[in-house]
Amino acid sequence: MLKDVAIHFSYMSLLIKNIKVLLQIREGGELKVSGKAMAELPQLNNAWLLIDGGIILDYGEMGSFNVALEQAPDGIKHIDAEGKILMPAFCDSHTHLVYPASREIEYIDKIKGLSYEAIAKRGGGILNSAGKMHEASEEELIASAMERLEEIMGFGTGAVEIKSGYGLNTEDEMKMLRVIRKLKELSPITIISTFLGAHAIPMEYKGRQEAYVDLLINEMIPRVAAEELADYIDVFCDRGFFTVEDTDRILNAGMKFGLRPKIHANELDYSGGIQVGVKYNALSVDHLEYTGEEEIKALSGSETMPTLLPGASFFLGLIYAPARKIIDAGLPVAMASDFNPGSSPSGNMQFILSLGSIAYRMLPEEAINAVTLNGAYAMGLSEQLGSISKGKKANLIITKNIPSYEYLPYAYGSDKVEKLIIDGEVVVDKNAEC
Ligand code: NIG
Ligand code: FE
Repeated sequence: MLKDVAIHFSYMSLLIKNIKVLLQIREGGELKVSGKAMAELPQLNNAWLLIDGGIILDYGEMGSFNVALEQAPDGIKHIDAEGKILMPAFCDSHTHLVYPASREIEYIDKIKGLSYEAIAKRGGGILNSAGKMHEASEEELIASAMERLEEIMGFGTGAVEIKSGYGLNTEDEMKMLRVIRKLKELSPITIISTFLGAHAIPMEYKGRQEAYVDLLINEMIPRVAAEELADYIDVFCDRGFFTVEDTDRILNAGMKFGLRPKIHANELDYSGGIQVGVKYNALSVDHLEYTGEEEIKALSGSETMPTLLPGASFFLGLIYAPARKIIDAGLPVAMASDFNPGSSPSGNMQFILSLGSIAYRMLPEEAINAVTLNGAYAMGLSEQLGSISKGKKANLIITKNIPSYEYLPYAYGSDKVEKLIIDGEVVVDKNAEC
């Protein structure tokens, strides 16, 4: 837990007044924003917002504050947000935050010049984590993941997707998914679970990749589905990992059990991952560093959210995904942290927001849309989360006193979040007297 962060579980009804800017207001029922519309960020200045039973009930300008007071239940808690921005909490749609240990020692080889793929080939990377995953108990994994969840709540995340994928055998994959299920119970924030048995080829299947794919299809997927341990299915479809043919077989098997894909694609090469993802109506295709005309054509008209992970490009020194080209082609974009020990050991969505502007040249409005409404879409949650809309869950951020919302991506090293509200309860308050 962050030392200067007090965690509270207190009230479900809240009246927030004098809000400098109420950001990301949507009443049109839009589940995502695409292309030019990504540059729009509807807002109200000098506003109030009323939460009842954990749900956004109403909001308006301070001139109509009597409307709020009339509706507010007796004894409701008030917050004065003068000088502060109120916005939806970050929706981080791609993480691997259940892992047994950090990998900073291996990272030294990366600093010395070894590539991510070279480290993976000699048994490092994901396989290194898989070895340690086998040894770790569920209790240890839950405890370390809860610490990471508390950390990202401090950064302003209100919903997060977490993948398995460091098990790479049936028992250890099931163990990871049980840990994620437990986190759903323990953590106040919304958690989505994704089965990523196809994250890497385990050592014992080296040269017998097809046999591992068979195991995934015949044993792992049916068990995961039978125990209802996953909301989605993922495959790392890229050079040196799973081929398009493998991915096709795995997604087909997943589909039979009602598991919709969210896949890792085109991080290391033009892998065909985007196309096979779209073929199976993936909810999202993620990474996308190698995205050209063909890939953009495949995504156009689909329901698949292109999800960019700038933290991985930043940390590994990879090329950045062509965000501008994707948006300028009329497509939506979501951004997520990819929090994991190998390619992005940070779940700080405030930094991801900044990278959106600094590295991808996204406007502040586009970047904020990418980490709120479009991130919620990429988890299948945008009917409940990702915008200030009447009837949606009150998972919100109140910022510190900051000059403008443009300051959020601009001040890339500062912590701009003061409070995190989940289901109408203040769960993080850096302004509270401890
Ligand atoms: O999304 N690219 C594949 N998987 C992760 C990295 C996992 C790891 O290195 O532990 C990613 O970047
Ligand atoms: Fe990932």
